[in-house]
Amino acid sequence: MISRILLLTVFLSCTVIAYHQYRELKCSTPSNTIRGGPDRAECHLVLKEEELETGRPVPTGLGCWTEEHDGQEREYCDLVCPKSHTVFISYIDQGHRACFNFVTYQIEKRGEESILWRSGKCLNSTVNYRIGCKFDDPFDTQFKSDNEIFAHLRARARRV
Ligand SMILES: *[C@@H]1O[C@H](CO)[C@@H](O)[C@H](O)[C@H]1NC(C)=O
Repeated sequence: MISRILLLTVFLSCTVIAYHQYRELKCSTPSNTIRGGPDRAECHLVLKEEELETGRPVPTGLGCWTEEHDGQEREYCDLVCPKSHTVFISYIDQGHRACFNFVTYQIEKRGEESILWRSGKCLNSTVNYRIGCKFDDPFDTQFKSDNEIFAHLRARARRV
């Protein structure tokens, strides 16, 4: 009986506990406009375990690249959440004048990777996204260190 309860407890804690990570994608223009100005924004990703911690910044531009879709330029940035079963935006600046979900930005799944694209005036705007990713397995089963993450991002940039 006791071992049954123990088994049940182990089973429950395995199914209820999911592993998470947080990201912040910070994009800024020289004038800090949120309406789409004359300059391209530069972005960098911040890696976090918990949503509200300061996190570890990734070098500017690393993991980001551009593509054309129907004559429109998009900038994609890798969120470093491979094999996640859920990816969600937990926060974006309220009342943004150029970045609109599903119109000028969107999270996209490509294979096992999750990436976020921006287009149109959003490309030339300051914008910050806070993003959560949920996994079945602990994140450190995929990457042992930030150097491995940076190497993954550099390799990805070379593929496109
Ligand atoms: C965005 O910035 C680029 C680079 O400075 C510029 O060529 C382009 O015209 C700008 N786009 C808009 C919509 O202002």
